Amino acid sequence: MTSKNKTAREYYDQEAPDYKKMYEPRYEKYPANLIRLKLIIKRLKQNKSRKILDTGCGTAIPMIKLLKQGFDVNGFDYSKQMVEFGKSELISAKYSSKRIFQADLEKNKTLPTKKFDAILSLGVFPHIKNEKIALRNIRNCLNKNGKTFIEFRNELFATFSMNKYSADFYLNELIDIQEIPTKVKNELINFYSKKLSIKRPTKQKNGRISYNEILAKFRNPLTIEDELFKPEKMKIDKIHFYHYHAMPPNFQSKYPKLFIKLSKKLEKSDSWKGYFLSSAFVVESSKI
Ligand SMILES: C[S@@+](CC[C@H](N)C(=O)[O-])C[C@H]1O[C@@H](n2cnc3c(N)ncnc32)[C@H](O)[C@@H]1O
Repeated sequence: MTSKNKTAREYYDQEAPDYKKMYEPRYEKYPANLIRLKLIIKRLKQNKSRKILDTGCGTAIPMIKLLKQGFDVNGFDYSKQMVEFGKSELISAKYSSKRIFQADLEKNKTLPTKKFDAILSLGVFPHIKNEKIALRNIRNCLNKNGKTFIEFRNELFATFSMNKYSADFYLNELIDIQEIPTKVKNELINFYSKKLSIKRPTKQKNGRISYNEILAKFRNPLTIEDELFKPEKMKIDKIHFYHYHAMPPNFQSKYPKLFIKLSKKLEKSDSWKGYFLSSAFVVESSKI
């Protein structure tokens, strides 16, 4: 296991006791996880999926919500703590604790051999080291007409957020920084740092500017099919945007109530605005 992977696993071990808060309707931040789950449940019903596998299922809160809706759900997580809390949540909700087990999405030998109608992976891929292997493993567990619901953090949100992620996006993704002489490169970095009122980045690796070494991965919804899904013989059926931001994130702490009220109104999973205003999206895909 790499140290980066270990950090994510340790982080989730530590988060396990409080994880279910995020699913409470009165969650004081933003009920993004609840919005995400509702849109997935709607699609699972429309697709008439029955047997579900939840990969990286955390403390089984989404699993229990799905079980209560009549779906046949099993799930796994690589964090021992998440699985332990998940087992007791399942027991309290009067479901078998055997529905949850410990496994690693990147290690196919730990995964189920059965096939499922739908496979969820929510909040997991940003931490995955080799997304192609993880997707291949998901595909292997999928029925012929099965669907996947995989969540990613939206890279294009950086064009709206106007913070350090925007500088990272402009300097690393839009501009070909390696082609630019050092003097001009420094001017460009200063230009964005000043415009966005952020500190000048301190680290530069292989010509790339990184603001945060343990940044979880972002994905571009415009390129993800060609980059990740098609090479693994999957096609995208739909991209569902969620966690909208009515204003740039800075305004959230300044005007929290207004921010949440206006953002909730924007939650339309198929709006073009999602490409820019939503910080995450769920990819619904199937086998080619
Ligand atoms: C953000 S949490 C989301 C939990 C749950 N899916 C939810 O939406 O409530 C991400 C979860 O993925 C798990 N995870 C990350 N990488 C994993 C991997 N390679 N295999 C299995 N679980 C993983 C973490 O331990 C953590 O519980």
